[in-house]
Amino acid sequence: MSDLSIGSNDQKRTTIHYDRDQLRELDASVVWHAFSQMSGYDGLIIDSAQGCWLTDIDGRRFFDGASSMWCNLHGHRHPYIDQAIRDQLEKVSHVTNLGMSHPTTIELARRLTALSPTHLKHVFFSSDGASAVEVAMKIAFQFWRQCPNPEPKRTLFLALGSAYHGDTIGTVSVGGVSRFHDLFSPLLFPVLRGPCPDSYRLPDGVDATEATDFYLAQYRALMEAHSSEIAAVVAEPIIQGAAGVVIQPPGFMAGLEKLCREFGCLFIADEIAVGMGRTGKMFACEHEGLQPDLLCIGKGLTGGYLPMSATLTSSKVWDAFLGSYEQGRSFQHGHTFGGNPLCAAAALATLDLFQKEQTLEKMPAKVGYMRDRLNEVREHADVGDVRQFGMLAAIDLVTDKETKQPHPWQEQLAGKYCKRFLDKGLWLRPLGNVIPIIPPLSSSMEELQFLTETVIEGLKAV
Ligand SMILES: Cc1ncc(COP(=O)(O)O)c(C=O)c1O
Repeated sequence: MSDLSIGSNDQKRTTIHYDRDQLRELDASVVWHAFSQMSGYDGLIIDSAQGCWLTDIDGRRFFDGASSMWCNLHGHRHPYIDQAIRDQLEKVSHVTNLGMSHPTTIELARRLTALSPTHLKHVFFSSDGASAVEVAMKIAFQFWRQCPNPEPKRTLFLALGSAYHGDTIGTVSVGGVSRFHDLFSPLLFPVLRGPCPDSYRLPDGVDATEATDFYLAQYRALMEAHSSEIAAVVAEPIIQGAAGVVIQPPGFMAGLEKLCREFGCLFIADEIAVGMGRTGKMFACEHEGLQPDLLCIGKGLTGGYLPMSATLTSSKVWDAFLGSYEQGRSFQHGHTFGGNPLCAAAALATLDLFQKEQTLEKMPAKVGYMRDRLNEVREHADVGDVRQFGMLAAIDLVTDKETKQPHPWQEQLAGKYCKRFLDKGLWLRPLGNVIPIIPPLSSSMEELQFLTETVIEGLKAV
């Protein structure tokens, strides 16, 4: 391949007259890649994809073991989603949601409320996960100013240790991954922070049976000390993704939600990473019967095709924003592309596919297979833990299995293993000392066999 062109022969739009080396040079010098050191940058350049496989500009194929940053559900170029987007293109690509709407977006909102925990009846659309969480936080803040018994002193958010909710200043404020967030601390607003409810790295002297109560006691103490100041608790339910796929002790989230009710604050569930079927249920909240006041979804909402996120709210929250124009109760927030119909068409098709392809029904066998195979690396000298919830798995690299001391992220051991997997046709993206394994939900058993065997062999080889 010398030149790359976009568009069919008879309708060529842009011809890219670069050879592959020029493309690499431009990619490393002009494109500023997220979370990447650009000095010496050398990333893949993907030319096309099909199903769970990516093909780069050199024609090499890679299994997409990271679901294109945890968002692809039904595979790339799924004919059903492709067609839904094409059909929508024939109608209109963008309609603002500032005073306007479109049937596709309206239907998506209705479908989401029908699917979600029963009392979430209203949907605010944004374009990315961070915005959906930021929206939830601003709604919670405004709620306390105009609810039937206003409590304007409720301005604080209580967040979990090692939380990740996105990279805007508001979401970095509630974030707690020091590697990502500490640098920006002078810009951030004050937040109450509890411990990271981690079922692998338990605090000294706490065993697995005591973990839930241990962590909840600390959250209770924080809530008692600030009972009239907390606007909302913000949390990733069940699994904290960017913390390193940290799985919470069972019952922790249900207990935290109970504390929210006891102390009268709102509960925001951030399901950007864990929602949309990733954990084996449509929403992670379902595992513990949670009823959040606000629920944030993104990533897989459009099957990982297009940027769209949503903040679902209860009627209790929505009602506090109703009133006459002069009362000024409207939610003062919006995004140019919120509710975009092309994204909505992709999202509706994504929801259809859950039914058509019985995605959740087929998951237990895939989850079980992944778990059995990945357990084979447990004895490896560098592996401290292999954990999994639904189709969200991770290998945690340690320097000492007893102390569970994480392998220092600066040494990039996880990156070295991922390089090895890449050479064998598997794309995984490291996260500090952790190797997340997050394949598309549509992965076949044969593909999961390829994925797990490449990991097993790759770990042996380094
Ligand atoms: C739990 C959680 N919340 C929010 C976000 C931010 O989403 P986005 O990158 O779309 O802004 C992420 C992204 O990984 C996430 O995992």
